Amino acid sequence: MTSSTHWTARFIAPANNTGASTGHHLAPLFRRNFVAGPVRRAVLHVTALGFVEAYLNGHLVGDEVLAPGWTSYAHRLNYSTYDVTHLIGNGTNTLGAIVGEGWARGRLGWEGQRENVYAARPGLFMQLELDYGDRTATVATDAEFVTSPGPVVSDSIYDGEHYDARLEKPGWSTPGFDASGWAPTEVMEWDLSTLEAPTKEPVRRMEEIPVQRLITTPSGKTVADFGQNLVGWVRISVEGAAGTTVTIRHAEALEDGELATRPLRTAKATDSYTLRGGSQEIWEPRFTFHGFRYVEIEGYPGALTPSDLTAVVIHTDMTRTGWFETSNPLLNQLHSNIVWSMKSNFVSLPTDCPQRDERMGWTGDINVFGPTAAYLYDVRGVLASWLRDLALEQRHKGYVPMFIPNFPTHGDPKTTAVWSDTAVLLPWTLYQAYGEEHILADAYPSMHDYTTQVEGLISPNGLWDSGFQFGDWLDPDAPPEYPGDGKTEPHLVATAYFCRVTEVMSQTAAILGRQEDEKKFAELSAKVKQAFRDEYVAPSGRLANGSPTAYALAITFDILDDAQRERAGEMLAALVSKAKYTISTGFVGTPLLCDALTQTGHLDHAYRLLLQTACPSFLYPVTMGATTVWERWDSMLPNGKVNPGGMTSFNHYALGAVADWMHRTVAGLAPAAPGYKRLRLAPRPGGDLTSASTRHLTPYGEARTSWQINEDGTFTLDATVPEGTTAQVVLPLHPGKLVLDVGPGTHRWHYPLLEKPRYGLDTSFGVLEEDPVLWESFAGVFATYFPGVPLDADSPEARSTTIKDMLNIIPISPTGFVEAIEQVLEEANASSASTF
Ligand code: BGC
Repeated sequence: MTSSTHWTARFIAPANNTGASTGHHLAPLFRRNFVAGPVRRAVLHVTALGFVEAYLNGHLVGDEVLAPGWTSYAHRLNYSTYDVTHLIGNGTNTLGAIVGEGWARGRLGWEGQRENVYAARPGLFMQLELDYGDRTATVATDAEFVTSPGPVVSDSIYDGEHYDARLEKPGWSTPGFDASGWAPTEVMEWDLSTLEAPTKEPVRRMEEIPVQRLITTPSGKTVADFGQNLVGWVRISVEGAAGTTVTIRHAEALEDGELATRPLRTAKATDSYTLRGGSQEIWEPRFTFHGFRYVEIEGYPGALTPSDLTAVVIHTDMTRTGWFETSNPLLNQLHSNIVWSMKSNFVSLPTDCPQRDERMGWTGDINVFGPTAAYLYDVRGVLASWLRDLALEQRHKGYVPMFIPNFPTHGDPKTTAVWSDTAVLLPWTLYQAYGEEHILADAYPSMHDYTTQVEGLISPNGLWDSGFQFGDWLDPDAPPEYPGDGKTEPHLVATAYFCRVTEVMSQTAAILGRQEDEKKFAELSAKVKQAFRDEYVAPSGRLANGSPTAYALAITFDILDDAQRERAGEMLAALVSKAKYTISTGFVGTPLLCDALTQTGHLDHAYRLLLQTACPSFLYPVTMGATTVWERWDSMLPNGKVNPGGMTSFNHYALGAVADWMHRTVAGLAPAAPGYKRLRLAPRPGGDLTSASTRHLTPYGEARTSWQINEDGTFTLDATVPEGTTAQVVLPLHPGKLVLDVGPGTHRWHYPLLEKPRYGLDTSFGVLEEDPVLWESFAGVFATYFPGVPLDADSPEARSTTIKDMLNIIPISPTGFVEAIEQVLEEANASSASTF
């Protein structure tokens, strides 16, 4: 069923229900009897303006939750299709449905009560097709359906669901039920050409998590801790008197031992269940979801035990495709947190966060997280579907809005770099991951229109220097209340990103055989790069706005010439070490930082950054017990207080974009051609890691790397190269610096490690300088004792000078100088593979 002309069903709603916005709506029940004979096949199509559960003869149909998912409903509304042959009986049958608010009618956005964004009434659409072999019949939503209030008293994504079991109508969707008191329905207007079969997987219940511990808080409340920040809801088991109400409040963190609900902003995140009374009752909500690790239970009759509560984890039912593990447990926990934040924020679409009054398809977040997402899960379905919404919204509005699906907000900034750039960069990311050219072809009109539109926004000199920009959003040095007020000039970010966008456009046009566009965008890219250099780059490679983010952008987006790039790498490494390897980048700089350091020969700095645990850093949240990636580096402050900023989610995947570098560099598995047709296996051991491994299900099959530094001083690399692909293998720490070309199959290399020099007073400056971290520490000690005296390691004489030679030249060695140098040498000797 693809075209509206095949539909006999119409959307129906309770008659005389205007849907006036009066707070939360109750979820109406709908039903209708029909007569059927023995069918060969029965297929049910269902959708709604709101969440829908369909029933046939008392059976819930299918296992989807939060159907029909979120798309730009005004343009396209998905319907679900189920084979229900087994549920059809001979004689009278009953079709039923419950319709909740969902995204169509519930409040959306952070600006308070914006309800009924897509529709004012709970519209239900069902078409049951009965195939008798020799004839067909259709039962479809029409005014023959009747409706009634049901036990779902109210439901809201942000605020939770309230269910009164005393209002249940046993047997309401079975033929024998007496529906004489039910109210009429009427057909409501909705453009049926918006109906589409889904191209993404539905949201399902994916896992269940038991309570880890029950806590009594300082104020005497009962709180259950599931030990994992997650997205879904709680199923409760309860027995008690009719009319007793159990209330469940959700939160991601505790502050002073109590639920920390301030980060939820206006979202109440509260479910309640009123008992029908009598025997054991088991209930879970159906038309809401929450982001939580802790729940506070109030009004539970009798003694609550851990087994009375189960967390039900939901997300889009994507196939897992990526795994990663190392010898460092903190790093493994960081990776697990990234996977959990991805699951939590793929509930029908890629969202920013899953708990507060947002949960929207923020474009910038998936732009930076895209490569990681495409490694961890098969996201073709969910992201291609979302990109179609992006293109439709773009065509409708004339620009790429900051979140998709979009609805009007105050001061909508229209086109913003990084965020709107997703129109070009996400299709490119998906093409790199899956190698399917149609991804680019399908997105091309949107990519092209976007780039051309921004071309019209830039100044004649090529700089994107006007309009609102988010910049390096959530730079840790920005004040908590002004997350866009970071160190990096927002228009520097915008122009750098436009260098990248135009380059990708030119490459895309080349792949699609559009030579004119290829040339046009290459020229535009060259112009924007030149403008960036003229405005921000000194001939030496030093940047005018010299933040780590600015350097990371200039290096990874290939804006500098070779000499400038090397100098920029040194400047970046110096900034990173000056910050003592804590993080000082936001959404834009963080995903690029480790690559920028690695590409310019500062792998050690990248590892030190990755393995730092002081606040702010990648691992600081892990040391604070985080089980998902936080929106801010310090969403929870070292003193256990929740960050006072309004943007304080504990479940944002954006800063987890570093996993892409971990997969490609730490474990060393990267595509060398789109879709992994060719692989590059080039692990870069470093830090204190003694092993790392990764697996990825490429379109050709499983690829794998696994390396280990063995206690006997040897190194082992195991690799799997899928059928139909080839790989370039760069053996790390190899005495002969071997680079190989291999075909499909499993491979093992085992060799003695390249010997690491032992540093002492006899070591020459040349050798010291080859270890950038050691050289920096050595130069630091020298500068402390001899301020202003230059230290030369570049001339051939200086390179062969040993530390001892230097000490002999110095007339009087200041007290503590030699000891300080010896300490630096000892530290370098103690660190493992950090010089490789
Ligand atoms: C969201 C972000 C988003 C940002 C836009 C926030 O409220 O949670 O992740 O990208 O707004 O700057």
